[in-house]
Amino acid sequence: MSKIDILQIGPYPDWDVEALARNFILHPYYAAEDKDAFIAACAPSIRGVATRGDRGLSRKLIEALPHLEIIAVYGVGYDAVDLDAARERHIRVTNTPDVLTKDVADFGVAMMLAASRGIIGGEDWVRSGDWSRKGMYPLKTRVFGKRAGILGLGRIGFEVARRCAAFEMDIAYADLEPKKGAEEWSFIKTPRALADRSDYLFVTTTGGAATTHIVDKTVIEALGPEGMLINISRASNIDEDALLTALENKTLGYAALDVFEGEPKVNSRFFELDNVMLQPHQASATVDTRKAMGRLVRENLEAHFSGRELPTPVI
Ligand code: 8YV
Repeated sequence: MSKIDILQIGPYPDWDVEALARNFILHPYYAAEDKDAFIAACAPSIRGVATRGDRGLSRKLIEALPHLEIIAVYGVGYDAVDLDAARERHIRVTNTPDVLTKDVADFGVAMMLAASRGIIGGEDWVRSGDWSRKGMYPLKTRVFGKRAGILGLGRIGFEVARRCAAFEMDIAYADLEPKKGAEEWSFIKTPRALADRSDYLFVTTTGGAATTHIVDKTVIEALGPEGMLINISRASNIDEDALLTALENKTLGYAALDVFEGEPKVNSRFFELDNVMLQPHQASATVDTRKAMGRLVRENLEAHFSGRELPTPVI
């Protein structure tokens, strides 16, 4: 296979760049100062795009690449790719499902435990000398035996539920319909009713137009001043303004967030709050998983350009 030109939308770890460069000529869009000039110069040769879940690919960029055949997403979520624009041109889209599921679930549960038990504040208590100066660290909240709600029982939601079961939690979920394999957990029809019966609400649904602000003001209020909202999906699934207001007014107890509107810039209202945990979109960010994701991106691109079946197609 002669080397094919690929537009790289966001940075990858060095090991992925090196491995991709063996079979492809990479054009690092993210590093270009003048993006329009960069695209104008390389567009005629580009046949593939390697992007990330958080960056996707806009209609504008798709339309600027006349010979584009495939968009390979490094991430399970492809909501940031304009699928309509891709479909119109019969451009293939792939993602990296499965390989990241358990790390993302681990991270959601880790946030629940760390936030409930005050682990980050406990560390500060020791390091700052408060322990010897002030004595006992304030008491925190028990997790085991509490009520967990899973909004979206897909691959990741299912693994979150399994982990919560190990903490003897009472588990319920909301989805379009009851799911096979989830018979031990309660199916709840609406996000609001789920929030109402939950101490911890995990948002694990896919992002995109159909789920935008599925967690709205009413869901946040139903979770209430003792409740915790945990988001390991997409920021767009939550009405962030309503969330901030609820956290400011303490009508929601706590939020543990891995994703933000406009990330990596984060609304500065969050920084004023002590009832929120802020994480840099790192639920899938382990060396093991990121290596597997990078491998899958390459396998999809290589399969496409050698005329083989795509390992993980979206369209
Ligand atoms: C990654 C993600 O953080 O899988 C997804 O959809 O958002 C994440 O796993 C991202 O794609 C890497 O930038």
